[in-house]
Amino acid sequence: PDLLDPKKEHTLVLVKPDGFRRGLTGEILRRIESKGYVLKGLKIKQADRALLEEHYAEHRERPFFQGLIEYMSASPLVAIVVEGDRVIEGVRSLMGTTNPTLAAPGTIRGDLGRDWGTGQVENLVHGSDSTTSAIREIALWFPELEYHAED
Ligand code: TYD
Ligand code: MG
Repeated sequence: PDLLDPKKEHTLVLVKPDGFRRGLTGEILRRIESKGYVLKGLKIKQADRALLEEHYAEHRERPFFQGLIEYMSASPLVAIVVEGDRVIEGVRSLMGTTNPTLAAPGTIRGDLGRDWGTGQVENLVHGSDSTTSAIREIALWFPELEYHAED
């Protein structure tokens, strides 16, 4: 099986359906790799509602939840496990804030994202927001990845 070193920090990144459809996967991966982070898992996946409802469980009661699930299940996305020191914070910093119109220039969302007048926030990329979230999300999207200490 593919292995993750439990002594290292990992995060789950999604290139969301809008990012994949627009051909921005390479650009987003380039920014992550150029920063010096290491890709440990990567796959194209058509996510179903059950997976996305689990992934976004914290938002279940929010008014945007159904629209979010529609957006995320509309077409395939790319799921990635990324490794590095403080990679959870580092990827969040590369991503920029949630609203792509307001995200700072220089960030993925700020440089590549915008509002499209649909009312649905489409912001190209997801990154885990804490160690707890990262462990939960990696297990959800990459059940085949195992943590195993290097000898
Ligand atoms: P959230 O976890 O708040 O943002 P982030 O992705 O920056 O961690 O929200 C999850 C996703 O839900 C967000 O990326 C886009 C969507 N969303 C909306 O569609 N409308 C909203 O008002 C918010 C706050 C989020
Ligand atoms: Mg979040």
